[in-house]
Amino acid sequence: MSVAMVTGASRGLGRALAGELAARGWDLVVTARGARALAEAASELARAPGVRVTAVAGDVSSAEHRGALVAAARALGGLDLLVNNAGVLGTEPLVALAAQPLDGLREAFEVNVVGPLGLVQEALPLLREAGAGAPAGAGAVLNISSDAAVVAYGTWGAYGATKAAGDLLSAVLAVEEPALRV
Ligand SMILES: NC(=O)c1ccc[n+]([C@@H]2O[C@H](COP(=O)([O-])OP(=O)(O)OC[C@H]3O[C@@H](n4cnc5c(N)ncnc54)[C@H](OP(=O)(O)O)[C@@H]3O)[C@@H](O)[C@H]2O)c1
Repeated sequence: MSVAMVTGASRGLGRALAGELAARGWDLVVTARGARALAEAASELARAPGVRVTAVAGDVSSAEHRGALVAAARALGGLDLLVNNAGVLGTEPLVALAAQPLDGLREAFEVNVVGPLGLVQEALPLLREAGAGAPAGAGAVLNISSDAAVVAYGTWGAYGATKAAGDLLSAVLAVEEPALRV
C-alpha cells in the first residue's frame, strides 16, 4: 500500500488530511512536537482497517528529527507522498513589520521553509523510487501554502514571506524533479 508522511498531523489541516488518507488505506508517518496530542491522533488514525501508522514526535526544524521521519517511512516500505503541512506564524499575536521580532521571523523560516526543504532533500531518494513503481506514476510533494503568500495583508508580512519562499521552492523543485508531482 502507499505510504504518506504528514507533518503537523496532530490537529487542524494536517490531522484532517491524515484522516482522509487513512480512510483511503494509506499507511502513514505522522509528526508534531506535542507527543501526547500526536499519540492520540495516531491511535485514532490507526483505527482505519489495515492501516499502519508510525508517530514520531519532534520538530521539523531539526535535521535529526527529519532523518528519523524518513527512516520511519523506509521501515514502512518507502514514501509515495510527503505533505509539508506543519507551520507557524512567527509571532502571536501578529504584528506589523515595524514591530516584528526577528527571532520570530527566523523561527518561521526554520519551520515553514528550511524544515520542509530539508525533509524533501532527505526523502528524495524514496520519492524517486516511488515514481518508478507507483500506480499513479510518481512520488508527490505537497507543500501547504497560504493566501498570505500572494496578498499584502497588514501584519501578515513575516508569515507571508515564508509562504512565498515556500511557493518558489515548490515551483523550482517541480522544474528540477520532473518525475515528481509537486
Ligand atoms: N488555518 C488557516 O486558516 C490557514 C490558512 C492558510 C494556510 N494555512 C497553513 O496550513 C497549515 C496547517 O495550518 P493549521 O491551521 O491546520 O495549523 P494548526 O492547527 O496550528 O496545526 C499545526 C500543526 O503543526 C504542528 N507543528 C507546528 N510547528 C511544528 C514544528 N516545528 N515541527 C513539527 N510540527 C509542528 C502542530 O503541532 P505542535 O504544535 O504540537 O508541534 C500541529 O500539529 C500550515 O502550514 C498553515 O500555515 C493555514
